Amino acid sequence: MNINQNYLKLENSYLFFTIAKKVQEYSAANPGVKILRLGIGDVTLPLVPAVTEAMQRAVTEMGEAEAFRGYGDYEGYPFLRQAVCGYYAGKGVKLEEDEVFISDGAKSDLGNILDIFSEDNAVLIPDPVYPVYVDTNIMAGRKITFISGNAANGFLPLPDGRSDIIYLCSPNNPTGAVYNREQLKLWVDYALERDAVILFDGAYEIFVQDGGLPTSIYQIDGADKCAIEFCSLSKTAGFTGTRCGYTVVPRALIRGGESLNKLWLRRQSTKFNGVPYIVQRGAEAVFSDAGMAQIKNNIGYYLENAKNIAKTLAELDIWFTGGKNSPYIWLKCPGNMTSWEFFDFLLEKIGVVGTPGAGFGANGEGFFRLSAFGKQEDVTEAMRRIRSVMEKD
Ligand code: MLT
Repeated sequence: MNINQNYLKLENSYLFFTIAKKVQEYSAANPGVKILRLGIGDVTLPLVPAVTEAMQRAVTEMGEAEAFRGYGDYEGYPFLRQAVCGYYAGKGVKLEEDEVFISDGAKSDLGNILDIFSEDNAVLIPDPVYPVYVDTNIMAGRKITFISGNAANGFLPLPDGRSDIIYLCSPNNPTGAVYNREQLKLWVDYALERDAVILFDGAYEIFVQDGGLPTSIYQIDGADKCAIEFCSLSKTAGFTGTRCGYTVVPRALIRGGESLNKLWLRRQSTKFNGVPYIVQRGAEAVFSDAGMAQIKNNIGYYLENAKNIAKTLAELDIWFTGGKNSPYIWLKCPGNMTSWEFFDFLLEKIGVVGTPGAGFGANGEGFFRLSAFGKQEDVTEAMRRIRSVMEKD
């Protein structure tokens, strides 16, 4: 019996798992300290009423003989896929129902999608980046080339080198940077020329406030022939614990003479039994008029937090970016601290948790990510503590 040796090439543990363990240890040793979590992007506002009411109705249905449902469609229920198509129509993107696959979130699909691609594909990943892209490719033994995101290019690297599979995340996790239409067009043209496929992570699209910026790669001409888009209701509608997302695989996307839509359906119907009916009814309600109005209120709440963080950093003269069209603020660690030194400094001195930039790749060293998903009173208190410790130091 041989294990998958690729696992031995991974970092010892997943970034947010490592952080959770460190925070747990600190908390056990300092039971009197109220820890303020601005680390993992986990939401704090509850599900909105439109969602919980829809879920409650679905629970009742599941207890009635006539309405009860067993296995659902592997691709998701038509009512939810149609709701997603309606949402895209609002962005000026025409999708067919069978191009939308309901999932339990973007993270799983971003890893699972690799099943349909050969192992010898060249993979291009921006650095810094959400660690799931890197880890899942290492697990599968693929060779990764990194392209540099840095302050000089606004953390928005443009096409370079050879690649078959390209990961893009916009608004970006962790930097909060957002590609504009011209920049995304360069990526789309590059992928089309090379027959490459872009895996576009749009998990934070709802945070885009600037109407001129794209919120879907399909707003760019030709993207339906070269891109798969992943989206999640985790940050959009507070589904981090409820689990629901969707992946768009256009019918026009053909590689090696095969439809990637068909391959993905084949993969999903074999390895995935779908998202619970009750959750899909809740997800459908996100796209209703009432649901959209309610979740946009929540997004506004988180963006207020981002403003609060940005204001504090500006006053402390700490370099930062992000936070305008994104729930993440990406800052330069003060006093030339490394990312993990600054992590320890904030945790040990003031009980504030953030995410070390180095956890997102080599280019993240010396940077740090703060999340705006906390409760407003906690973010305000975290900023008060940061001011007091930075002004003292
Ligand atoms: C993050 O903090 O980067 C995300 O919450 C992690 C995730 O979505 O898996």
